[in-house]
Amino acid sequence: MRAAVITLSDRVSRGEAEDLSGRRLSELLSSDGFEVASYSVLPDEREALERELIRLSDRERVDVVITTGGTGLSERDITPEATLAVAERRVPGIPELIRAESLRKTPFAALSRGEAAVRGRTLIVNFPGSVKSVEECFSFIRGLLPHAVSMMAGEGHKDEHYVK
Ligand code: MTE
Repeated sequence: MRAAVITLSDRVSRGEAEDLSGRRLSELLSSDGFEVASYSVLPDEREALERELIRLSDRERVDVVITTGGTGLSERDITPEATLAVAERRVPGIPELIRAESLRKTPFAALSRGEAAVRGRTLIVNFPGSVKSVEECFSFIRGLLPHAVSMMAGEGHKDEHYVK
């Protein structure tokens, strides 16, 4: 399985801060058996993110893209909007799960507007922008990712009662 990580941060992209959450996310994906085929840091700019998401799904054809940052309420937080702009289908259960579990950790989870969507055979998921939230959110969805990837590859559902 191939994955991509995109960090959305004006400060990191200007070299004023280190990308701790993107690096941690890459480590978590690698230790779950993903090849991290692409890692990028972008400013909080909608057009740049849309372009990168399209490149990763249409050209690189990675299985999963996880973004970190830009899901909050500041004017510059555009990650969910860019994700929806390139989405072919939303996957609302993933952000529902992330927010439900995250609310058990912090009420501020209600302030993350992260989305999840499919474009082609690529699943795009938005995480918030701290190391703590990346670690928590990844732990909530990591068990879903292999099944999501095989469903997008058209391998159908392996549950026996579906095939009878
Ligand atoms: N979700 C989890 N699981 N853990 C967290 O610590 N932090 C919240 C929230 N979601 C948090 C979380 C906070 S403080 C904010 S402001 C929002 O995510 C948005 O973060 P972002 O703007 O970095 O994307």
